[in-house]
Amino acid sequence: MNDKIKILDQKIAEAQLGGGQKRIDSQHKKGKLTARERIHFLMDEGTFEEIGMLVQHRSNDFGLEKEKYLGDGVVTGYGNINGRLTYVFSQDFTVFGGSLSETHAEKICKIMDLAMKNGAPVIGLNDSGGARIQEGVVSLGGYADIFYRNVRSSGVIPQLSAIMGPCAGGAVYSPAMTDFILMVENTSYMFVTGPNVVKTVTHEEVTSEELGGAMTHATKSGVTHFACANEVEAINYVKQLLSYVPQNCEEDAPSVPYEMGNESRPDLNEIIPANANQPYDIREVIEKVIDADTFFEVHKLFAENIVVGFARLAGKSIGIVANQPAVLAGVLDIHSSTKAARFVRFCDSFNIPLLVFEDVPGFLPGTDQEWNAIITNGAKLLYAFSEATVPRITVITRKAYGGAYDVMNSKHIGADMNYAWPSSEIAVMGAKGAAEIIFKNEISTAKDKDTKWKEKETEYKTMFANPYRAAERGFIDEVIKPEDTRIKLIKAFKMLENKVDQLPKKKHGNIPL
Ligand code: HXC
Repeated sequence: MNDKIKILDQKIAEAQLGGGQKRIDSQHKKGKLTARERIHFLMDEGTFEEIGMLVQHRSNDFGLEKEKYLGDGVVTGYGNINGRLTYVFSQDFTVFGGSLSETHAEKICKIMDLAMKNGAPVIGLNDSGGARIQEGVVSLGGYADIFYRNVRSSGVIPQLSAIMGPCAGGAVYSPAMTDFILMVENTSYMFVTGPNVVKTVTHEEVTSEELGGAMTHATKSGVTHFACANEVEAINYVKQLLSYVPQNCEEDAPSVPYEMGNESRPDLNEIIPANANQPYDIREVIEKVIDADTFFEVHKLFAENIVVGFARLAGKSIGIVANQPAVLAGVLDIHSSTKAARFVRFCDSFNIPLLVFEDVPGFLPGTDQEWNAIITNGAKLLYAFSEATVPRITVITRKAYGGAYDVMNSKHIGADMNYAWPSSEIAVMGAKGAAEIIFKNEISTAKDKDTKWKEKETEYKTMFANPYRAAERGFIDEVIKPEDTRIKLIKAFKMLENKVDQLPKKKHGNIPL
């Protein structure tokens, strides 16, 4: 028996080395960890169980039959993250550049299937040269097998993709269909076609980093939700993110114990500037309302005119969507609408209650927005809120103008509780523009047009730039002092804890894509 165990030990040792020490050294020289090192940092100590360590590829073309590595370029298995079951696949760049063969894909599919059957998240650590070129269409089929499972798992179990190296060609579409993407600055990139193809087709000269690096996707395209300084930071973000999220769509969002104390936050009374056109940072409001140091912002560098992220309120996990008056006055545009819509849908899929802070002057005007379909894209956010069945609460801190009032989780589209601060202005449009339209004749025939305009502006402002018209109608459930916001929200979310709401029976809705 001992001899046989020795053979097994030898095989395990061989598998642990992946493509060999030389390639491991080269990986380290690039500032990258190996597939196994990443898993070591990700999983709770001693909990990782590997599946498929001895798998080898079956290809006999281009001399591949003479080049086989145990595990075939991906380490797969399960273990715990912060004590909770999680499945993981980690591509091994030291084996054929982490490229995806038929068997490599089968290994990933195997753990995706297990994750679905057992209701636990899947984390993909991606570091791959794409399709295993020697295998041709078999490799493409492997990708499609993964894509199919990504979609089937969507909304059932959380799926996270950390991009730790190259991710090019159609390979980008698996991460794109998962819930969150994290990229590492300077060592990872994602693009459908690389710089060489770009140069041939469009004559643009661009580096990999410019075309598809972490900062590009974090700021310009929004493809990645996080740009991380290094791999360890990316792994820590994965762990943090999972701490707010249930294991699957059947479970409640996780919570931590909380003891009620003095929940009044008088500082909130001082945040809104006296001048309604002056900006302030909505993060200050968020930080003062939620449990201390629990805000985990998502998509921080993209469409900064809206802020989204997870937090805890009295220990319970919530998702926050907040207009940001400090950027573009908090206006809604194409990117902020799609950013928020996707976040709302994630929270709703996984039973995470939603809290909205609203200070929005309206939708951004202009040809750029109209020609790029602000209509369709703004509708995504409207659709996402309208279909969400989780507990939903809105706090209007200042402006709630025009269509944006309806879109930002208004009572009319199913919000459960709508609060407004006394500083709220809830109306069809700002007083200046409104006066110009409805008092056009009076202003144009007045001797002193400017004075008349000002007078009419003040008249409109007095009548509508407050929360009381909406409160009279019941569109606002309560006008609250800012200092009471936290306690009101704690009580309201508690009251909504057992909310039951269901969409009408349907195959699926048709969100305006
Ligand atoms: C097989 C591959 C490979 C691949 C890399 N290797 N990519 N083997 N199939 N796709 C191997 C290399 O031969 C090399 O083997 C080792 O991995 C490391 O590669 P290097 O080139 O030395 O590394 P580096 O300089 O860091 O460059 C990494 C790279 C480059 C940028 C990823 O290797 C590259 O451009 N590879 C090809 C990318 C590609 O065109 N893939 C197909 C995309 S199409 P040795 O033995 O020297 O260690 C696609 C379609 C998917 O993916 C569609 C799904 C729908």
